[in-house]
Amino acid sequence: MARYAYVNGRYVDHREASVHIEDRGYQLADGVYEVVGVRGGKLIDEVPHIDRLDRSLRELRIDWPVSRNTLGFIIRELMRRNRLHDGLVYMQVTRGVARRDHAFPTTPVKPALVLTTKNTKHIVADAGAGVAVKSQPDIRWGRCDIKTVALLPNVLAKQAARESGAYEAWLVDSKGCVTEGASTNAWIVTGEGELVTRQTDSGILAGITRLKLKSICDSLQLKLVERPFTLAEAKKAKEAFITSATSFVTPVVKIDGDAVGDGKVGNTARRLREEYVRFSETGEAVT
Ligand code: PDD
Repeated sequence: MARYAYVNGRYVDHREASVHIEDRGYQLADGVYEVVGVRGGKLIDEVPHIDRLDRSLRELRIDWPVSRNTLGFIIRELMRRNRLHDGLVYMQVTRGVARRDHAFPTTPVKPALVLTTKNTKHIVADAGAGVAVKSQPDIRWGRCDIKTVALLPNVLAKQAARESGAYEAWLVDSKGCVTEGASTNAWIVTGEGELVTRQTDSGILAGITRLKLKSICDSLQLKLVERPFTLAEAKKAKEAFITSATSFVTPVVKIDGDAVGDGKVGNTARRLREEYVRFSETGEAVT
C-alpha cells in the first residue's frame, strides 16, 4: 500500500516527498512540530496538541501555514489515505524557504507545512514491561517550552542512552535536578506515595500526556507535587515513569543501571498506564 505524506498543499508518495534545500527548517532548525497519538482511528487529545502548536508558532512569530480547520482536515485526510488506525501523526511547520540569512526574511514567505504518519501499534502494546533510563547533562537552550525541531542535544542524549542499552535519557541540569527525558516528561513516586514531576516553565516541554495524567491523578485522588527533583532522589524513589504521545505512560525500572524500587513495574505506574490507555481508546479515563 502506498504511504502518503503531506507537503505544502499536496499528498505525495512518502518515498518521493521532499522540501526545498533552503527551507529554514532544514538549514537553521527554524521551525516547530507536534506529534499526536492515534488510537482506534481517533486522535488523542487533538485540541491541546493544536493549541500547543499555536503557542509554539506564536512564540517564534511564524504564521499559521493554513487555518486551524484546514489543518484538522489535512490530518484526517492523511490518516484516511494511510489507513492509520493506531500510530502517530507528525506535523511540522517551518518559517519557509528563503535565501540563507539568520535573521527572519524581510519579504513575506509562506511557512512550510509537512505531515507524516507512522504505524506504532506494537510499541504501545509492549511498553508496559518497564524501561531503563540513563542520565545525561541537560545542555539545551533556555526555551525548552517551545516545541522546536532544534533537537540536537536531545538526539545526542537519546543516542548515549541507546548505546548504553537504555530506552530514554533523563536530562539533568546544573543543580543535579532531572528536567525531563530527551523526548518524554519524567515522573517519580516517592516512598510516601506522592507523585512528583517538574513544574512547567521554560526548562521543559509542557507535555500533553503529562497534562492529561494530572487530571487522571486528580480523579484517582493521588497526591501530585510539581517541583524539581534530583537524580539522587529519583534513584531512591519507589517508582518512576515517563510520559509522551509516543510512550503513553511507561514505567522506568532502572536509572543508570540501578533498580528503581524493587526493579519491577510499580502499582502506581501500572494503574496510570492502564487509565491512560483506556482514555486513549475511549476518550474517558478512570472508571
Ligand atoms: N516528544 N518533553 C520533550 C522534550 C518532548 O519532546 C516530548 C514529546 C515530551 C512529551 O510531550 P507529549 O506528552 O505532548 O508528547 C516531553 C515527542 C513525542 C517527539 O518528539 O517525538
